[in-house]
Amino acid sequence: MGNGYILKGQVLAFSASPFAGERPQDAARILDAVAVQDGRIAGAGTLAEMQVLLPEAETVDHSGKLIMAGFVDAHVHYPQTAIIASWGKRLIDWLNSYTFPEEMRFGDRGYADEIASRYLDLTAAHGTTTVCSYCTIHPESVDAFFSAAKVRGQRVAAGKTCMDRNAPEGLRDTAQSAYDDSEALIARWHGVDRLEYAITPRFSPTSTPEQLEAMGALWAKHPECLMQTHLSEQTDEIEWVKSLFPQARDYLDTYEEFGLLGAKGLYGHAIHLEERERHRLRDYGAALIHCPTSNTFIGSGLFDMAGLMAEGHRIGLATDTGGGSSFSIF
Ligand code: GUN
Ligand code: ZN
Repeated sequence: MGNGYILKGQVLAFSASPFAGERPQDAARILDAVAVQDGRIAGAGTLAEMQVLLPEAETVDHSGKLIMAGFVDAHVHYPQTAIIASWGKRLIDWLNSYTFPEEMRFGDRGYADEIASRYLDLTAAHGTTTVCSYCTIHPESVDAFFSAAKVRGQRVAAGKTCMDRNAPEGLRDTAQSAYDDSEALIARWHGVDRLEYAITPRFSPTSTPEQLEAMGALWAKHPECLMQTHLSEQTDEIEWVKSLFPQARDYLDTYEEFGLLGAKGLYGHAIHLEERERHRLRDYGAALIHCPTSNTFIGSGLFDMAGLMAEGHRIGLATDTGGGSSFSIF
């Protein structure tokens, strides 16, 4: 029978997307028990049904408690754990005043280990079992994060943040070193246990066209990887992108031109999208990542959830720790 067990409690399950029907509650079901065998869910239903499914399994009683799937946080920066909820005027000031100085510390593997562990413990305490995280430019910061997730048996995606301009000395790589370091990390971590690599150019303002081209080439060579970046978070950021890339049709085009638009791409924020950008993102089946607490805390604007869902976009939810003010996906 394998090493099965049955968890008894109030099991919250969903039969469809709560956004799909007329009333969100129509998609929700409350069941009594979950059967687990060989580390996987074998079934969910009444306690009697689960006892028929796994007759020899022990029942673990969690009556009065809620049993549900773990949350998936689709856009976080684990290195920003210590500066969460630092008040900034605008995105670029916030990056320069708090974020970059803190990210500088992650060249120290001991510090990266400490924060990676603290971050994963904090998110687990909020019911989050899977995250997709930015690390820093330091490969050590990626090793620290994947090592901490591996020890916990946890599924995470993460990648080395690549930046070769508009970032302070000590937080810049080059097009070539970003490519080489990222590729070595893919070889070391992608597909190990439940770990996935995400190729991570931070956003267009901190990458030269040469670096974006290198990241596009790396993704073409490793299409099994995710790719994560930021897109159209604040209006002054968009103006800056347009001045840095005068040939580009819009912000998304700075990624699209270099092969950084695809179905395994995660585009954080995506608030102030132009019509062409919305169409291209939808046609490619790319994922827009909605970061509500961050969008209001840093004053970026409001994500058009209803409009983008009606257009058929794929949308993920995220805290954007530490731009977001909480570790909780709620
Ligand atoms: N844009 C580029 N980097 C960042 C970051 O670290 N946080 C947020 N919210 N936006 C960004
Ligand atoms: Zn972010």
